[in-house]
Amino acid sequence: VQKTSHATLDQTSSRELLVDLKGVPRGRWGAELEAGLRTAIRSGRLRSGAHLPSTRALAADLGLSRSVVVQAFEQLAAQGYLTTRAGAVARVSDIGAIRAALQARVTSAHPPGEPPLVSTRIDLRPGTPNLAGLPRAEWGRAVRKALTTLTDAELGYGDSRGLPSLREAIADYLGRVRGAVIHPDNLVVVNGFAQGLVVAARILGKLGIDAAGVEDPGSPHTSTHLADQGIAIVPVPVDDQGVDIEAARRGAGARLRAVLVTPAHQFPTGAVLSPARRLGLVEWAKRHDGLVIEDDYDAEYRYDNHPVGTLQGMAPDRVVLGGSVSKTLAPGLRLGWLAVPPALSADAASHKRAIDLMAPALEQAALAELITSGNYERHIRRSRAGYKRRRDLVVELIAQELPEAEVRGTSAGLHVLVSTPSVADEAAVELEAAQRGVQVLGLGPHRRSPGPSGFVLGYGHLSEDQLRRGLKAFAAAVGVCQRRRSVRKA
Ligand SMILES: Cc1ncc(COP(=O)(O)O)c(C=O)c1O
Repeated sequence: VQKTSHATLDQTSSRELLVDLKGVPRGRWGAELEAGLRTAIRSGRLRSGAHLPSTRALAADLGLSRSVVVQAFEQLAAQGYLTTRAGAVARVSDIGAIRAALQARVTSAHPPGEPPLVSTRIDLRPGTPNLAGLPRAEWGRAVRKALTTLTDAELGYGDSRGLPSLREAIADYLGRVRGAVIHPDNLVVVNGFAQGLVVAARILGKLGIDAAGVEDPGSPHTSTHLADQGIAIVPVPVDDQGVDIEAARRGAGARLRAVLVTPAHQFPTGAVLSPARRLGLVEWAKRHDGLVIEDDYDAEYRYDNHPVGTLQGMAPDRVVLGGSVSKTLAPGLRLGWLAVPPALSADAASHKRAIDLMAPALEQAALAELITSGNYERHIRRSRAGYKRRRDLVVELIAQELPEAEVRGTSAGLHVLVSTPSVADEAAVELEAAQRGVQVLGLGPHRRSPGPSGFVLGYGHLSEDQLRRGLKAFAAAVGVCQRRRSVRKA
């Protein structure tokens, strides 16, 4: 199918469609016609609502039998691209929502604010924990207790770093569970790690550091938070041992003095930073008078082994450690923390003050209560078992449904990276899956340099039944795209 003469065609004639089947072997006319029309619709060349010529007219124009055209139209209708009605000409469906979602490919459930695809029933994108599992009763009790115990003074403008009771509870918790070495004076309570990154970026700016390394592949969202503060982003390669800072020594990497990393469970590959690389990273920071920003986003969930401790515990003077309750409780609570080297503590407090004075007192007091009562860790232990079951099921289903694919990374967290070497076009699979009511996200938006294809699948928020149906649809979408590709190649 060549370019139509108008981009905003209302009534399309067969000539205007300019479907060109020259050189296409007879047996593939239907498939080519279908693929060409699909491409025209997806690209917006045939816009929503446009009328197509009748099957009879198109068949005559192209010199095809009418049944070939009817079959192609039926396929496109079944996939949602065309709307057909007996006795009427086919029209292009309203696929605006699907196209918008695909154009905004950075659409993992984090950050919020991007509209879900209306027709999607199962969202396999990463970023959301099991929100139905929020321990509401315990949280409610903690909020009530906080309300009765908060002093009048604590309801006023307080220390921008947050309530001392919460900073003490977090410092103790991170020391016990994550091997971190934190004095509560050096902690700032923030509205999630997203805000922690804004504080960290401003700290970098004040230190005269205007660039930061980010993992490649990595989270497109966390690097954006730094970039939005004027920090230049330098990709640092990731392999199965985690981020490789020594590989970034050339070019812009040679001048780096800061890097943002996910050592406990690299996002999205799932690699755990190897002991040699951990040491190397700390040495690198010392050598360059630099800072490592450690994103400890889902370290609570490791299923095969005890999680490795934080890098911060190895070098509290060189590491800024960030975390939040977004994976353990719910992202909507917007509660997180940033532990900074003691020398930067006053600076961090003043940046938080400049941003929004302080985090909400009631929520802070409630979280302090949840942690000190032991209910926070009890909840994490309980939810860990459920997440492990889901992950095991995902691994099993991928092996069954997509034997040529590979689940990468250690047994941890709330997402898996599925390598799909046979997939050439991740966006096409996303669209095919969306047509089946399932939203998936390719590796593309996480990459800064080209590499093999894959999909980042979140499972933490889905039931067993949803995972079964979702992964079946995903596998079917991959299969359709592979078949289409081999037909084109043949
Ligand atoms: C890589 C990564 N870091 C951090 C976070 C947590 O962000 P926040 O604490 O702002 O909700 C997420 C959430 O999805 C994430 O994917």
